[in-house]
Amino acid sequence: MSLLQPPEAVRGMTKLDKEAFRLTVDLPVIEIEASDVGSVTRRVRLESFLIGHKLRPLKNTMDSEKEGKKYLVFNPEKVEQDTLREKIGALIKREIDDGQPINWTTLSKELTFDNWDTKSIFKAILPVGIEYSSYTQTGHIIHCNFADEVLPFRHIIAEVLLNKVKNCKTVVQKGNIITNVYRNLDLELLAGEENYETEIKESGLRFKMDFSKVYWNSRLSHEHERVAGLFNNQSIVYDACCGIGPFVLPATLKKKPRRVMANDLNPESVKWLKVNVALNKIKDDKIEIHNMDAKQFIKENIANDVIRLMKEESGSEDFDENKLESEIHVVMNLPAYAVNFLPAFRGALKNFETELKEINKKWKWNVYCYLFAKSQVDVPDEWYEEEARRMCDEKTKWDKSLVVNCHNVRTVSSRKEMFCVQLEVPYEYLLAEPLPEEPEVPFEPEEVEEPSCKKMKMDN
Ligand SMILES: C[S@@+](CC[C@H](N)C(=O)[O-])C[C@H]1O[C@@H](n2cnc3c(N)ncnc32)[C@H](O)[C@@H]1O
Repeated sequence: MSLLQPPEAVRGMTKLDKEAFRLTVDLPVIEIEASDVGSVTRRVRLESFLIGHKLRPLKNTMDSEKEGKKYLVFNPEKVEQDTLREKIGALIKREIDDGQPINWTTLSKELTFDNWDTKSIFKAILPVGIEYSSYTQTGHIIHCNFADEVLPFRHIIAEVLLNKVKNCKTVVQKGNIITNVYRNLDLELLAGEENYETEIKESGLRFKMDFSKVYWNSRLSHEHERVAGLFNNQSIVYDACCGIGPFVLPATLKKKPRRVMANDLNPESVKWLKVNVALNKIKDDKIEIHNMDAKQFIKENIANDVIRLMKEESGSEDFDENKLESEIHVVMNLPAYAVNFLPAFRGALKNFETELKEINKKWKWNVYCYLFAKSQVDVPDEWYEEEARRMCDEKTKWDKSLVVNCHNVRTVSSRKEMFCVQLEVPYEYLLAEPLPEEPEVPFEPEEVEEPSCKKMKMDN
């Protein structure tokens, strides 16, 4: 048992009692002139022996009761051996050399709940062999995902987090399985206010949301940035499952695309997207927003919009050879389902055959289809990418694969990888006979994340 752990009496605690965390510890110290602290700590490499920052506000140097003197405060576990203490004393003396001996003494300090960090508290509370350290924070909300053995301790864990984590006002448990179409999580309030309206920053932009009603995952921030980085000021950007705007808002502000249209089936996502457009001072007319099924959005809104824009350009008099060529980008980040939207591209322009004949420059179509590649058994890493390609090919049903790139976004859990598959959709496909409507594919319940006991995961 470590000397610097909360008292053993807190083990098994299920209701937070801060008083039970009081503990007096004897800390080894060396008293030196305050004016010598700077040179000693600079020139003698003491960091690994000093108390460090674990027991904040305890610090490596503290005021002594004697005027003009300071203590160097050591970690008792790191300076147990007398020979080591002698060595440290000699090194310090070499720096000071005022003729005075270097003495090791003891400083008694009472540690309270405030001194211990969450990791030490959880380790002290939970039965030996059970660990908890993984949680995610979105604005003022902390969401936890518990392994079965930790569940009986969820309320005290929540109380500890509420008390210890900066800006945390609400702690919820999120369900392990997403079953609903809008991909928001089932939340159970564990501690703090029942207030799910929060605000976070991503890529320098502000995002407000009702966390209980929309989808948000800060682990996707790199992916949001990566995709926005593919656009330029001539891009035509369509986000078919836009959520509260993490692709379209940074893209609009940073890349200034020629056209942006965003859509989501969840009216709450659309409501918060509009709030976020205003919050980030983006003019209303920069993003056209829709609230419908992605398939319908592709077949009607995107198809009509592309034809209108290409016709406009074909009829335009001004030609600038330095201008970048426009490309169409359709983002579909609904990994549990988006492959089922791919058939909507087949024949999407069939009704515009006549118009297309008059259009001299046809823009390239890039589709970014997110999906999960899952295996029931252990497979080599390459299998997941092959599976991702196969899943898209199976849905597009074309004589050659439309897949041009497969980007691994993240590992969701063991044997489950998230990909962004990029497809280049040719005009022959867009003008082909549409596939017969397939029966609606039901949403599969989706496992959110394996509850992890190892890593601390922080959003903000
Ligand atoms: C995984 S979330 C991604 C949201 C956002 N793109 C992001 O990266 O945070 C998927 C989104 O698809 C929306 N959605 C679900 N079914 C849909 C459908 N049939 N058509 C359009 N959007 C849909 C959900 O409401 C949700 O906002």
